[in-house]
Amino acid sequence: MRFLVVGGAGYIGSQMVRHLLQANHEVVVADTTRPRYDIEWVGLDIADADALDTLFSLYRFDAVFHFASYIQVGESVSKPGKYYRNNVAATLVLLEAMVRAQVMCLIFSSTAAVYGDPQRIPIDEQHPKLAINPYGRSKWMVEQILEDFDRAYGLRSVCLRYFNAAGADPHGEGGECHEPETHLIPLILQAAAGRREAVTVFGRDYDTPDGTCIRDYVHIADLASAHALAVVYLLEGGASTAFNLGNGQGFSVQQVIDMAREVTGRDIQVVDAPRRAGDPPRLVADAGKAREVLGWRPVHDSLEEIVRHAWHWEQKYPWH
Ligand code: UFG
Repeated sequence: MRFLVVGGAGYIGSQMVRHLLQANHEVVVADTTRPRYDIEWVGLDIADADALDTLFSLYRFDAVFHFASYIQVGESVSKPGKYYRNNVAATLVLLEAMVRAQVMCLIFSSTAAVYGDPQRIPIDEQHPKLAINPYGRSKWMVEQILEDFDRAYGLRSVCLRYFNAAGADPHGEGGECHEPETHLIPLILQAAAGRREAVTVFGRDYDTPDGTCIRDYVHIADLASAHALAVVYLLEGGASTAFNLGNGQGFSVQQVIDMAREVTGRDIQVVDAPRRAGDPPRLVADAGKAREVLGWRPVHDSLEEIVRHAWHWEQKYPWH
């Protein structure tokens, strides 16, 4: 099979590319950034319809994986235009180019942020979509656009709603490196490595057992395997749908810090701060649908392993 991976230079996209190459697929990456690994790369912005038409005229793709988006919730509140332009408008350009080229299968990176403040835990796919920030709304808008594109043109898609993507490639080939970094686990490990003074805990007054926020951390290698199953599902004629991807187990910020102390054997300085705007107290997935329909079986589902792989990556690449 030949696949186009849009946003294949990023944290999760590059894990997907490694997964597809290991399964002997042909892969082309389209990204504005050059990947850090060796791959056929086309430097393009998906907002550029002409560049997409050229790309689709050069290769016949069986499906497209779309990882390219802005992901910072806080920034999406202060710069909504940036999020709607990149995450929604540019995706629309990609979808129209796919229809012109008759590439009719898409795997789309969505997010738990489409649900907003949870009304029940664990969260299943039927939970109301009441996103509370432009980032979550931008992903939900694309999901709705995808339903319309299926109805109008027969473009079938699977939307994968990630909970908290975490960890690093189990073989040490890649890991998290956002600029600026806002995610909990890499920030904790940077503090463990002495690359930052301390990690800040945003809020200890939540209605949770230890007062800190609870999240469902899911390993990027397990996310990649879910995408691979999703594309098989689509290519075998499966109907457009959405799946939650999470382990169904929640860990508090404090539990993640404690686990990082254990894994690294280092002291990790902690500074307490008020709640971060827009953080729901608890997000835990019901991913039963992905297990039943796709046969998805996460294999790196312990917090210890997620933190250990991330720590290995942090130590292997003493960048910055
Ligand atoms: N946190 C801290 N200190 C930090 C960073 C984070 O205490 O320095 C806390 C947050 O308040 C939150 C938890 O750690 O309770 C996890 O925060 P992250 O920033 O790592 O992840 P989020 O849960 O905010 O966001 C993730 C994805 C988003 C996605 C969201 C879905 O990164 O892209 O899940 O709800 F939108």
